[in-house]
Amino acid sequence: MTIKVHPFFDDLTSTFSYVVADTKTHKATIIDSVLNYDPDSGRCKTQSADYLIEIVKDLGYNVQWILDTHIHADHLTASSYIKSKLGGRIGIGSKIIDVLNYWVPVFNTFHDTPLDGSQFDMLLNDGDSLPLGESFITILHTPGHTPACASYVIDDCVFVGDTIFMPDVGTARTDFPGGDARTFYRSIQKLFHLPGTTRLFMCHDYPPNNGRPISYETTIGIEKQDNIMVHTGITEDEFVQLRTQKDIGKSVPKLLLPSIQVNMRAGQLGSQDSLGRQYIKIPINTI
Ligand SMILES: [Fe+2]
Repeated sequence: MTIKVHPFFDDLTSTFSYVVADTKTHKATIIDSVLNYDPDSGRCKTQSADYLIEIVKDLGYNVQWILDTHIHADHLTASSYIKSKLGGRIGIGSKIIDVLNYWVPVFNTFHDTPLDGSQFDMLLNDGDSLPLGESFITILHTPGHTPACASYVIDDCVFVGDTIFMPDVGTARTDFPGGDARTFYRSIQKLFHLPGTTRLFMCHDYPPNNGRPISYETTIGIEKQDNIMVHTGITEDEFVQLRTQKDIGKSVPKLLLPSIQVNMRAGQLGSQDSLGRQYIKIPINTI
């Protein structure tokens, strides 16, 4: 194994981003980057993405792929910004078409958010693989949290997005449009077929109030044994009941509307008006 994983934690959105590189060839991918957005002032900053860019430059990596595990609802992706600085091709799971067909009408952004996903360089199918130096990135569709969630397998590492959380947290919610607890359980079982020593890298961590530090890595074996919502022995029906109950009354993520809108454009802000200004639309009483 020759891959090196560089995690970065964006504490305002509790998001882990990763630079993953093949140490022999220095080919790299960036997964789940964050564009810093302040909804009160309407200003975007790039310090979190710039940290990833600095790692790439310092270590002489060559970024091939810029990936998101899904259309995040809690932060804006910096994919397009990173591409403008480092090159590389932007990819996301091909089921994004379902997400676009649901959400673009909600925002009425047909003019700058193509429904065919052509704003992304690559729509990745289940089982596709991308070369990463001497390794490969294998795409596993893991829907349930959203219809377009994908996990990325590189050697013995999996970048799971919001498919599964640390064992004492459980799993992500399934109450977003197109989310489904039953589908989610099956996606997690798909991951559980990987060897127990497989390393899992989280997209978020929300530790319980017990002093455990924020963590980004666990294994399939530990999740199967200890995950409070999907450990071995919990049936599909039990999970569906538990997950559905937990989702009742959950509040809307603070950055949901800006995030989805911008992330459906691979992180590009909306089309410019005649003065070059860009806007984020907030639909009223629509969702
Ligand atoms: Fe998410």
